[in-house]
Amino acid sequence: MSGHKQPKEDEMNIIEKQYPNLDDFEVEGLILDIGGGGEGIIGQVKGKQVIAIDTSKRELEEAPSDNLKIVMDATDLQFLDNSFETVTSFFTLMYLDEETREKTFKEVFRVLKPDGKFLIWDVIIPEMDEEEKKKFYVVPIEVKIQNKIIETGYGVRRPAQDKEYYKKLGKKTDLNLLVESEKDLIYYLEFQKK
Ligand SMILES: C[S@@+](CC[C@H](N)C(=O)[O-])C[C@H]1O[C@@H](n2cnc3c(N)ncnc32)[C@H](O)[C@@H]1O
Repeated sequence: MSGHKQPKEDEMNIIEKQYPNLDDFEVEGLILDIGGGGEGIIGQVKGKQVIAIDTSKRELEEAPSDNLKIVMDATDLQFLDNSFETVTSFFTLMYLDEETREKTFKEVFRVLKPDGKFLIWDVIIPEMDEEEKKKFYVVPIEVKIQNKIIETGYGVRRPAQDKEYYKKLGKKTDLNLLVESEKDLIYYLEFQKK
């Protein structure tokens, strides 16, 4: 699991392994990757095209790719308006509370160029009762990139989220939905700034 202090077995709700697909992911220009520390999967796939930002210096230092990494908060991006053709979030939104998710969407919209795209890979977090909410919701993933397979896990205690939740947030932020797909408990969404 990403992060350092490993919770005990009974503090975790580990769901079945998920297999996100990064096969058809072709984009031009610079990519801003939100929460790009940890495994830094987008950096590993797209290399120097990527600027990874993360609030955690340690998570950025641990990410194995050699793209540019900057300590920065997704709710207060230090880039000018209309800077990027692409912004990505690979299992990062699940780490944010609702207010932060909303602020992040607004910032992503601001830094995207007109016609720029926001690509999201994330997982369903169901509504939980009070007892379940105390546990870490842990998503083991296996992702194939180029010729290697990366196995990792992402775990959080955060509010419910699903594809519909982000579709609503996209609408509220004036982002147009271009693509949506779902596989097991994970989903992919592609928004465009018009
Ligand atoms: C575990 S990572 C997600 C997976 C990561 N994209 C990967 O490829 O392995 C989630 C990251 O979001 C970061 N994060 C949390 N809140 C943030 C915020 N407000 N702005 C930027 N990054 C944030 C965390 O520090 C953490 O490193």
